[in-house]
This record gives sequence, structure tokens and C-alpha cells, in this order.
Amino acid sequence: MLWELVQEQSHIAEAQSLARFFHLYYHQFFHVKEVLVNTPSSKALIKKEQKISSWRIFLLSTATFAFLILFWIVGDFKQDPFITETLSIRGEVLSGSKLFKINCVGCHGISAQGFVGPDLHEATQEMSDKKIINQVIRGLTPPMPSFEIEPQSMADLLAYMHSLN
Ligand code: HEC
Repeated sequence: MLWELVQEQSHIAEAQSLARFFHLYYHQFFHVKEVLVNTPSSKALIKKEQKISSWRIFLLSTATFAFLILFWIVGDFKQDPFITETLSIRGEVLSGSKLFKINCVGCHGISAQGFVGPDLHEATQEMSDKKIINQVIRGLTPPMPSFEIEPQSMADLLAYMHSLN
């Protein structure tokens, strides 16, 4: 009975010291935080840091934007010689139709109506010739493969696709 009482007392004491410890810890933590936030100098420091970082973000995004525009303009001027040559050739629809039947119908359908690949009837309205050429020779959108093709054949294919709409 006495022993139980002693044990209970020591448990209470334990719990109390634990609570005191946590209270101290808690108090210390918030005290430190309060000091950090309320001291004018540290406030100024935090503000300064925020200013620098937003200034950096602004600079970085402006520079990225400028570079993107630069690359875009330079890329447009430095056109692929294959594209330049293809665009200078007058294509023949019939020859293009034959090429299409051999190379493209497996995916785009016998009359380009779409199958695995999309319907190509509106392709020349939605895409520039340059983009279509890139689509055919670059293989950027699998599963469509890249084709090794002569500029004359590419011009014929383009003429065929223009004849579709
Ligand atoms: C193995 C299947 C396959 C073959 C062969 C193929 N294509 Fe495609 N093609 C596709 C697929 C799939 C897409 C859609 C790609 C994407 O944008 O995700 C596509 C997209 C295109 C597009 C863009 C259409 C659009 O509206 O975005 C054009 C133009 C095109 N193909 C032309 C051709 C031509 C010309 C040939 C033959 C020389 C050809 N394709 C052969 C599968 C194929």
C-alpha cells in the first residue's frame, strides 16, 4: 500500500518533470522565434533576403525569355537546307499519291482518312509546310518513324497533301 503510494508519487513527479521539460522546450522555442522576428535588425535581414531573391527570379526569367526569343529568331533564319530545297521544288500530286500509298497508308489510312495516325485532310491548313516536312523527316513523334527522303519526293508528298483539302 505504501509502496504503491510511493510509486504513484514518483510517477506524478516523473510526469511533472516531463511536462516542465516540454513546457521549457516549447517556451524556449517560441521565445527564440519571437526574438528572431521582433528584432528590427533581423526583420530587415529577412526583408533584404526576400528582395534579393525576387530580384534574382525577375532577372533569371527575363534572361530566359530573351534567350528563347533569340533562339526562335535565329532558328527561323537558319532554315534547314533540306527544307529550303524542298520548298523551292514544285511537287507532283500523282507521284506524291504513289509515295503516300507506299509509305504512309499503313498508319494514316488508304485515303489519308486516319487510322493509327491522324486524318491528314486538314493537315496542310493546320500545319505549315515546314512543320509537315519536319514531321516526316525528323521522327519527333513516335510511333511515326522518320523518313529518309529526297527533296523532290518530299515536295511531291506535300503537293499530294495540299490536294487533299
Ligand atoms: C508507323 C505509323 C506511321 C507512319 C508509317 C506514318 N505516320 Fe504520320 N503520324 C503517325 C502518328 C501516330 C502521328 C501522330 C503523332 C502525334 O502527333 O502524336 C502522325 C502524324 C503525322 C502528321 C501530323 C498530323 C497532325 O495533324 O498533327 C503528318 C503531317 C504525318 N503524320 C504525315 C505522314 C506522312 C506523309 C507519312 C508517310 C511518308 C507518314 N505520316 C507515315 C503515324 C505514322
